[in-house]
Amino acid sequence: MKDSWKFDTKVVHVGYQPDKCTGAVSQPIVPAVAYAFPNADAAAAVVSGQMEGTFYGRYGNPTTRTLELKIAELESGEDAIALSSGMAAISSALLAFLQHGDHVVVTKDIYGGTYNFVTQMGSRFGISHDFVDCTNLEALELSIRENTKAIYVETPSNPLLTILDLKQIAMIANARGIPLIVDNTFMTPYLQRPLELGADVVVHSATKYLNGHGDVVAGVVVASSKVIEFIRKRIAGDLGQNLNAWESFLILRGLKTLGLRVRAHCENAREVAAFLTTHPQVQALHYPGLMSHPQHELAKQQMDNMGGVVSFEVKGGLESAKAFMNQLKLILISFSLGDPETLVQHPATMTHFSIPPEERLQFGITDGLIRLSVGLEDAQDIIADLQQALAVIGEQMEQMEHPKMNEVVNASVE
Ligand SMILES: Cc1ncc(COP(=O)(O)O)c(C=O)c1O
Repeated sequence: MKDSWKFDTKVVHVGYQPDKCTGAVSQPIVPAVAYAFPNADAAAAVVSGQMEGTFYGRYGNPTTRTLELKIAELESGEDAIALSSGMAAISSALLAFLQHGDHVVVTKDIYGGTYNFVTQMGSRFGISHDFVDCTNLEALELSIRENTKAIYVETPSNPLLTILDLKQIAMIANARGIPLIVDNTFMTPYLQRPLELGADVVVHSATKYLNGHGDVVAGVVVASSKVIEFIRKRIAGDLGQNLNAWESFLILRGLKTLGLRVRAHCENAREVAAFLTTHPQVQALHYPGLMSHPQHELAKQQMDNMGGVVSFEVKGGLESAKAFMNQLKLILISFSLGDPETLVQHPATMTHFSIPPEERLQFGITDGLIRLSVGLEDAQDIIADLQQALAVIGEQMEQMEHPKMNEVVNASVE
Protein backbone atom coordinates (compact mmCIF):
# COMPACT_ATOMS: atom_id res chain seq x y z
CA MET A 1 0.00 0.00 0.00
CA LYS A 2 2.86 2.34 0.92
CA ASP A 3 4.09 2.18 -2.67
CA SER A 4 0.90 3.77 -3.98
CA TRP A 5 0.94 6.63 -1.44
CA LYS A 6 1.19 10.12 -2.84
CA PHE A 7 3.95 12.45 -1.68
CA ASP A 8 1.86 14.30 0.94
CA THR A 9 0.95 10.97 2.58
CA LYS A 10 4.49 9.63 2.42
CA VAL A 11 6.03 12.75 3.89
CA VAL A 12 3.83 12.40 6.98
CA HIS A 13 3.99 8.63 7.44
CA VAL A 14 7.09 6.98 6.02
CA GLY A 15 10.03 6.15 8.26
CA TYR A 16 8.16 6.30 11.55
CA GLN A 17 5.38 4.44 13.36
CA PRO A 18 3.97 5.49 16.75
CA ASP A 19 6.56 4.77 19.42
CA LYS A 20 6.29 1.18 20.75
CA CYS A 21 6.76 2.12 24.43
CA THR A 22 4.73 5.32 24.67
CA GLY A 23 2.48 5.34 21.61
CA ALA A 24 3.80 8.83 20.84
CA VAL A 25 2.54 9.91 17.42
CA SER A 26 5.31 12.41 16.84
CA GLN A 27 8.96 11.37 16.88
CA PRO A 28 10.52 11.28 20.37
CA ILE A 29 13.75 13.24 20.84
CA VAL A 30 16.51 10.93 22.09
CA PRO A 31 19.44 13.00 23.36
CA ALA A 32 21.53 10.00 24.53
CA VAL A 33 25.11 9.80 23.25
CA ALA A 34 25.89 6.25 24.47
CA TYR A 35 23.72 3.14 23.91
CA ALA A 36 23.79 -0.05 25.98
CA PHE A 37 23.88 -3.55 24.42
CA PRO A 38 22.48 -6.81 25.78
CA ASN A 39 25.84 -8.53 25.25
CA ALA A 40 29.29 -8.08 23.72
CA ASP A 41 28.37 -9.79 20.44
CA ALA A 42 25.49 -7.36 19.85
CA ALA A 43 27.83 -4.40 20.46
CA ALA A 44 30.36 -5.79 17.98
CA ALA A 45 27.64 -6.51 15.38
CA VAL A 46 26.29 -2.94 15.51
CA VAL A 47 29.76 -1.37 15.31
CA SER A 48 30.74 -3.55 12.35
CA GLY A 49 27.47 -2.77 10.55
CA GLN A 50 26.19 -6.36 10.60
CA MET A 51 23.25 -5.28 12.73
CA GLU A 52 21.23 -2.02 12.50
CA GLY A 53 21.56 0.07 15.66
CA THR A 54 23.09 3.09 17.34
CA PHE A 55 26.30 2.90 19.32
CA TYR A 56 27.74 6.39 19.76
CA GLY A 57 26.31 9.85 19.06
CA ARG A 58 28.92 10.90 16.53
CA TYR A 59 27.96 8.01 14.24
CA GLY A 60 24.20 8.29 14.52
CA ASN A 61 21.19 8.90 16.74
CA PRO A 62 17.70 7.30 16.79
CA THR A 63 15.85 10.59 16.15
CA THR A 64 18.27 11.45 13.36
CA ARG A 65 17.87 7.93 11.96
CA THR A 66 14.12 8.50 11.53
CA LEU A 67 14.91 11.63 9.55
CA GLU A 68 17.47 9.78 7.43
CA LEU A 69 15.09 6.94 6.58
CA LYS A 70 12.32 9.38 5.70
CA ILE A 71 14.48 11.44 3.34
CA ALA A 72 15.98 8.32 1.75
CA GLU A 73 12.46 7.11 0.98
CA LEU A 74 11.28 10.49 -0.35
CA GLU A 75 14.33 10.72 -2.63
CA SER A 76 13.95 7.07 -3.79
CA GLY A 77 17.39 6.31 -2.34
CA GLU A 78 18.73 3.27 -0.54
CA ASP A 79 19.97 5.17 2.51
CA ALA A 80 20.77 8.65 3.82
CA ILE A 81 22.87 10.39 6.43
CA ALA A 82 21.84 13.65 8.08
CA LEU A 83 24.67 16.02 8.96
CA SER A 84 25.32 19.31 10.70
CA SER A 85 24.98 21.56 7.61
CA GLY A 86 24.43 21.55 3.88
CA MET A 87 28.18 22.13 3.50
CA ALA A 88 28.88 19.08 5.71
CA ALA A 89 26.71 17.06 3.30
CA ILE A 90 28.39 18.51 0.20
CA SER A 91 31.94 18.12 1.51
CA SER A 92 31.28 14.56 2.75
CA ALA A 93 29.70 13.52 -0.53
CA LEU A 94 32.63 14.89 -2.53
CA LEU A 95 35.22 13.40 -0.18
CA ALA A 96 33.53 10.02 -0.43
CA PHE A 97 34.74 9.84 -4.04
CA LEU A 98 37.74 12.15 -4.26
CA GLN A 99 41.24 11.87 -2.94
CA HIS A 100 44.65 13.37 -3.66
CA GLY A 101 45.34 13.38 -7.42
CA ASP A 102 41.67 13.15 -8.45
CA HIS A 103 39.69 15.62 -10.54
CA VAL A 104 36.08 16.77 -10.23
CA VAL A 105 33.89 18.41 -12.87
CA VAL A 106 31.62 21.04 -11.33
CA THR A 107 28.81 22.93 -13.02
CA LYS A 108 29.67 26.58 -13.46
CA ASP A 109 27.14 28.43 -11.36
CA ILE A 110 26.84 26.86 -7.96
CA TYR A 111 26.39 27.88 -4.35
CA GLY A 112 29.33 30.04 -3.17
CA GLY A 113 30.21 27.68 -0.30
CA THR A 114 30.56 24.76 -2.70
CA TYR A 115 32.74 26.93 -4.94
CA ASN A 116 34.95 27.71 -1.91
CA PHE A 117 35.20 24.07 -0.89
CA VAL A 118 36.22 22.94 -4.36
CA THR A 119 38.65 25.78 -5.06
CA GLN A 120 40.20 26.22 -1.59
CA MET A 121 39.93 22.98 0.34
CA GLY A 122 40.03 20.76 -2.75
CA SER A 123 43.20 22.46 -3.99
CA ARG A 124 44.87 22.21 -0.55
CA PHE A 125 44.38 18.46 -0.62
CA GLY A 126 45.51 17.93 -4.22
CA ILE A 127 42.06 17.59 -5.80
CA SER A 128 41.77 19.47 -9.10
CA HIS A 129 38.56 20.79 -10.62
CA ASP A 130 37.03 22.33 -13.73
CA PHE A 131 33.97 24.53 -13.75
CA VAL A 132 31.97 23.67 -16.85
CA ASP A 133 28.79 24.97 -18.41
CA CYS A 134 26.85 21.73 -18.03
CA THR A 135 24.00 22.97 -20.24
CA ASN A 136 26.57 22.17 -22.97
CA LEU A 137 26.83 18.36 -22.88
CA GLU A 138 29.69 18.32 -25.36
CA ALA A 139 31.71 20.67 -23.14
CA LEU A 140 30.92 18.40 -20.20
CA GLU A 141 32.15 15.31 -22.06
CA LEU A 142 35.32 17.10 -23.14
CA SER A 143 36.09 18.17 -19.56
CA ILE A 144 36.16 14.59 -18.27
CA ARG A 145 39.70 13.35 -17.72
CA GLU A 146 41.17 10.00 -16.84
CA ASN A 147 41.36 11.01 -13.19
CA THR A 148 37.82 12.50 -13.02
CA LYS A 149 36.16 10.78 -10.07
CA ALA A 150 32.98 12.80 -9.66
CA ILE A 151 30.62 15.14 -11.51
CA TYR A 152 28.89 17.67 -9.28
CA VAL A 153 25.86 19.71 -10.37
CA GLU A 154 23.17 21.92 -8.95
CA THR A 155 19.85 22.35 -10.74
CA PRO A 156 18.22 24.82 -10.64
CA SER A 157 21.48 26.61 -9.99
CA ASN A 158 22.09 29.22 -7.34
CA PRO A 159 21.55 32.11 -8.08
CA LEU A 160 20.76 32.07 -11.82
CA LEU A 161 18.27 29.19 -11.90
CA THR A 162 19.91 27.46 -14.84
CA ILE A 163 18.33 24.05 -15.41
CA LEU A 164 20.55 21.09 -16.25
CA ASP A 165 19.39 17.94 -18.00
CA LEU A 166 19.91 15.37 -15.26
CA LYS A 167 19.00 12.37 -17.43
CA GLN A 168 21.53 13.27 -20.09
CA ILE A 169 24.26 14.15 -17.60
CA ALA A 170 23.62 10.91 -15.71
CA MET A 171 23.97 8.96 -18.97
CA ILE A 172 27.36 10.57 -19.61
CA ALA A 173 28.48 9.91 -16.03
CA ASN A 174 27.14 6.34 -15.88
CA ALA A 175 28.76 5.41 -19.19
CA ARG A 176 32.14 6.28 -17.69
CA GLY A 177 31.46 4.89 -14.22
CA ILE A 178 31.75 8.36 -12.67
CA PRO A 179 29.34 9.15 -9.83
CA LEU A 180 26.97 12.06 -10.43
CA ILE A 181 26.25 14.17 -7.32
CA VAL A 182 23.26 16.54 -7.43
CA ASP A 183 22.45 19.36 -5.03
CA ASN A 184 18.65 19.17 -4.80
CA THR A 185 18.25 21.94 -2.20
CA PHE A 186 16.19 24.31 -4.37
CA MET A 187 13.70 21.62 -5.42
CA THR A 188 13.37 19.16 -2.51
CA PRO A 189 12.17 15.62 -3.35
CA TYR A 190 8.68 17.07 -3.65
CA LEU A 191 9.59 18.72 -6.97
CA GLN A 192 12.54 16.70 -8.30
CA ARG A 193 14.08 13.30 -7.58
CA PRO A 194 17.53 13.12 -9.24
CA LEU A 195 18.16 9.47 -8.29
CA GLU A 196 15.12 8.45 -10.37
CA LEU A 197 16.76 10.25 -13.30
CA GLY A 198 20.02 8.32 -12.99
CA ALA A 199 22.10 10.34 -10.50
CA ASP A 200 24.08 8.46 -7.83
CA VAL A 201 24.05 10.88 -4.93
CA VAL A 202 21.73 13.67 -3.78
CA VAL A 203 22.82 16.35 -1.33
CA HIS A 204 20.66 18.86 0.49
CA SER A 205 20.99 21.88 2.61
CA ALA A 206 18.15 20.87 4.96
CA THR A 207 18.53 24.38 6.38
CA LYS A 208 16.31 25.51 3.51
CA TYR A 209 12.95 24.05 2.38
CA LEU A 210 13.26 20.65 4.08
CA ASN A 211 13.17 22.21 7.53
CA GLY A 212 11.51 25.32 6.15
CA HIS A 213 11.36 27.44 9.28
CA GLY A 214 14.75 29.13 9.37
CA ASP A 215 15.74 27.67 12.75
CA VAL A 216 18.08 24.77 11.92
CA VAL A 217 21.35 24.42 10.00
CA ALA A 218 21.56 20.87 8.61
CA GLY A 219 22.34 18.78 5.54
CA VAL A 220 21.55 15.35 4.10
CA VAL A 221 23.31 12.98 1.71
CA VAL A 222 21.24 10.28 -0.02
CA ALA A 223 23.06 7.45 -1.82
CA SER A 224 23.59 3.69 -1.87
CA SER A 225 23.93 1.98 1.52
CA LYS A 226 27.61 1.36 0.79
CA VAL A 227 28.37 5.04 0.16
CA ILE A 228 26.34 6.17 3.19
CA GLU A 229 28.09 3.63 5.42
CA PHE A 230 31.47 4.90 4.17
CA ILE A 231 30.49 8.53 4.83
CA ARG A 232 29.17 7.65 8.30
CA LYS A 233 32.20 5.67 9.37
CA ARG A 234 35.10 7.18 7.47
CA ILE A 235 34.22 10.78 6.65
CA ALA A 236 31.47 12.48 8.65
CA GLY A 237 32.18 10.27 11.66
CA ASP A 238 35.88 11.08 11.63
CA LEU A 239 35.31 14.78 10.92
CA GLY A 240 32.53 14.97 13.54
CA GLN A 241 29.79 16.36 11.28
CA ASN A 242 26.86 14.68 13.03
CA LEU A 243 23.45 16.31 13.43
CA ASN A 244 21.92 16.34 16.91
CA ALA A 245 18.56 14.88 17.97
CA TRP A 246 16.82 18.16 18.68
CA GLU A 247 17.57 19.59 15.24
CA SER A 248 16.61 16.30 13.60
CA PHE A 249 13.27 16.52 15.40
CA LEU A 250 12.71 20.08 14.16
CA ILE A 251 13.36 18.99 10.57
CA LEU A 252 11.00 16.01 10.98
CA ARG A 253 8.37 18.43 12.21
CA GLY A 254 9.01 20.85 9.34
CA LEU A 255 8.93 18.04 6.78
CA LYS A 256 5.33 17.15 7.57
CA THR A 257 4.20 20.33 5.81
CA LEU A 258 6.76 20.18 3.00
CA GLY A 259 4.20 19.66 0.23
CA LEU A 260 1.88 22.38 1.56
CA ARG A 261 4.70 24.85 1.95
CA VAL A 262 6.44 24.18 -1.34
CA ARG A 263 3.15 24.49 -3.24
CA ALA A 264 2.60 27.90 -1.65
CA HIS A 265 6.22 28.99 -2.31
CA CYS A 266 5.83 27.99 -5.98
CA GLU A 267 2.52 29.78 -6.42
CA ASN A 268 3.83 32.98 -4.81
CA ALA A 269 7.04 32.83 -6.87
CA ARG A 270 4.96 32.47 -10.03
CA GLU A 271 2.95 35.59 -9.15
CA VAL A 272 6.09 37.54 -8.26
CA ALA A 273 7.78 36.52 -11.53
CA ALA A 274 4.67 37.54 -13.51
CA PHE A 275 4.85 40.97 -11.85
CA LEU A 276 8.59 41.38 -12.49
CA THR A 277 8.39 40.44 -16.20
CA THR A 278 6.68 43.69 -17.03
CA HIS A 279 8.55 46.00 -14.67
CA PRO A 280 10.54 48.76 -16.44
CA GLN A 281 13.41 48.67 -13.90
CA VAL A 282 14.01 44.94 -14.36
CA GLN A 283 16.38 44.20 -17.21
CA ALA A 284 16.65 40.42 -16.83
CA LEU A 285 14.53 37.84 -15.06
CA HIS A 286 15.62 34.31 -14.19
CA TYR A 287 12.75 31.99 -13.37
CA PRO A 288 12.32 28.56 -15.00
CA GLY A 289 8.55 29.00 -15.21
CA LEU A 290 8.93 31.72 -17.86
CA MET A 291 8.45 30.61 -21.45
CA SER A 292 11.48 32.76 -22.28
CA HIS A 293 13.74 30.83 -19.85
CA PRO A 294 16.32 28.98 -21.99
CA GLN A 295 15.52 25.61 -20.37
CA HIS A 296 11.79 26.12 -19.80
CA GLU A 297 10.75 22.93 -21.64
CA LEU A 298 13.35 20.86 -19.78
CA ALA A 299 12.18 22.37 -16.46
CA LYS A 300 8.61 21.25 -17.23
CA GLN A 301 9.77 17.68 -17.91
CA GLN A 302 12.23 17.33 -15.05
CA MET A 303 10.57 19.27 -12.24
CA ASP A 304 7.04 18.99 -10.84
CA ASN A 305 6.88 22.77 -10.35
CA MET A 306 9.23 25.74 -10.71
CA GLY A 307 10.31 26.34 -7.10
CA GLY A 308 10.23 29.39 -4.88
CA VAL A 309 13.31 31.31 -6.01
CA VAL A 310 13.28 34.14 -8.52
CA SER A 311 16.39 36.08 -9.54
CA PHE A 312 16.39 39.34 -11.44
CA GLU A 313 18.72 42.06 -12.55
CA VAL A 314 17.84 45.68 -11.92
CA LYS A 315 18.87 48.49 -14.23
CA GLY A 316 21.72 50.62 -12.87
CA GLY A 317 23.95 47.90 -11.33
CA LEU A 318 25.24 47.93 -7.76
CA GLU A 319 23.86 51.33 -6.71
CA SER A 320 20.36 50.46 -7.91
CA ALA A 321 20.49 47.02 -6.31
CA LYS A 322 21.48 48.53 -2.96
CA ALA A 323 18.90 51.32 -3.16
CA PHE A 324 16.21 48.74 -3.97
CA MET A 325 17.14 46.45 -1.08
CA ASN A 326 17.39 49.32 1.40
CA GLN A 327 13.89 50.45 0.47
CA LEU A 328 12.19 47.11 1.17
CA LYS A 329 9.77 47.19 4.10
CA LEU A 330 8.41 43.64 4.35
CA ILE A 331 11.07 41.57 2.58
CA LEU A 332 14.14 40.89 4.71
CA ILE A 333 17.76 41.22 3.56
CA SER A 334 19.13 37.81 4.50
CA PHE A 335 21.36 34.99 3.26
CA SER A 336 19.10 31.98 3.46
CA LEU A 337 16.19 30.71 1.38
CA GLY A 338 13.18 28.44 1.75
CA ASP A 339 11.91 30.18 4.90
CA PRO A 340 8.33 31.42 5.50
CA GLU A 341 9.66 34.97 5.23
CA THR A 342 10.49 36.40 1.80
CA LEU A 343 14.26 36.93 1.81
CA VAL A 344 16.33 39.00 -0.56
CA GLN A 345 20.05 38.90 -1.11
CA HIS A 346 22.64 40.41 -3.43
CA PRO A 347 24.81 37.50 -4.67
CA ALA A 348 27.77 39.65 -5.80
CA THR A 349 28.30 41.07 -2.29
CA MET A 350 26.73 38.33 -0.18
CA THR A 351 26.49 34.59 -1.06
CA HIS A 352 28.95 34.73 -4.00
CA PHE A 353 31.24 37.46 -2.66
CA SER A 354 34.24 35.12 -2.40
CA ILE A 355 34.24 34.41 -6.16
CA PRO A 356 36.65 36.83 -7.90
CA PRO A 357 34.70 39.57 -9.79
CA GLU A 358 35.84 38.50 -13.31
CA GLU A 359 34.84 34.90 -12.63
CA ARG A 360 31.55 36.04 -11.08
CA LEU A 361 30.74 37.93 -14.26
CA GLN A 362 31.63 34.90 -16.37
CA PHE A 363 29.13 32.94 -14.29
CA GLY A 364 26.54 35.68 -15.05
CA ILE A 365 26.47 37.07 -11.50
CA THR A 366 26.32 40.79 -12.27
CA ASP A 367 26.29 43.66 -9.77
CA GLY A 368 22.63 44.32 -10.48
CA LEU A 369 21.56 40.73 -9.75
CA ILE A 370 19.14 40.15 -6.88
CA ARG A 371 18.01 36.76 -5.58
CA LEU A 372 14.60 36.51 -4.00
CA SER A 373 13.46 33.55 -1.94
CA VAL A 374 9.73 34.03 -2.15
CA GLY A 375 8.09 33.25 1.19
CA LEU A 376 4.67 32.25 2.39
CA GLU A 377 3.19 35.70 2.95
CA ASP A 378 0.27 36.86 0.79
CA ALA A 379 1.65 37.29 -2.74
CA GLN A 380 -0.02 40.69 -3.09
CA ASP A 381 1.86 42.02 -0.05
CA ILE A 382 5.18 40.74 -1.44
CA ILE A 383 4.47 42.34 -4.80
CA ALA A 384 3.43 45.65 -3.21
CA ASP A 385 6.74 45.76 -1.32
CA LEU A 386 8.73 45.00 -4.49
CA GLN A 387 6.79 47.63 -6.39
CA GLN A 388 7.46 50.45 -3.92
CA ALA A 389 11.16 49.50 -3.65
CA LEU A 390 11.65 49.27 -7.43
CA ALA A 391 10.09 52.73 -7.76
CA VAL A 392 13.16 54.11 -5.94
CA ILE A 393 15.40 52.93 -8.77
CA GLY A 394 13.19 54.72 -11.25
CA GLU A 395 13.43 57.94 -9.24
CA GLN A 396 17.20 57.56 -8.83
CA MET A 397 17.72 57.08 -12.56
CA GLU A 398 15.39 59.93 -13.41
CA GLN A 399 17.46 62.21 -11.19
CA MET A 400 20.69 61.12 -12.85
CA GLU A 401 19.27 61.69 -16.31
CA HIS A 402 17.46 64.96 -15.53
CA PRO A 403 19.09 66.69 -12.53
CA LYS A 404 16.66 69.11 -10.82
CA MET A 405 16.75 72.70 -12.06
CA ASN A 406 18.27 74.11 -8.84
CA GLU A 407 21.04 71.49 -8.89
CA VAL A 408 21.86 72.58 -12.45
CA VAL A 409 21.94 76.21 -11.34
CA ASN A 410 24.20 75.40 -8.33
CA ALA A 411 26.51 73.40 -10.55
CA SER A 412 26.85 76.32 -12.97
CA VAL A 413 27.53 78.79 -10.12
CA GLU A 414 30.39 76.68 -8.82
C1 LIG B 1 22.01 25.33 -3.08
C2 LIG B 1 22.70 25.33 -1.75
N1 LIG B 1 23.42 24.25 -1.39
C3 LIG B 1 24.07 24.20 -0.21
C4 LIG B 1 24.04 25.26 0.67
C5 LIG B 1 24.81 25.17 1.97
O1 LIG B 1 23.95 24.86 3.01
P1 LIG B 1 24.23 25.18 4.55
O2 LIG B 1 24.21 26.65 4.73
O3 LIG B 1 23.14 24.45 5.26
O4 LIG B 1 25.58 24.63 4.87
C6 LIG B 1 23.29 26.39 0.35
C7 LIG B 1 23.24 27.53 1.27
O5 LIG B 1 22.71 28.58 0.98
C8 LIG B 1 22.61 26.43 -0.90
O6 LIG B 1 21.90 27.50 -1.27
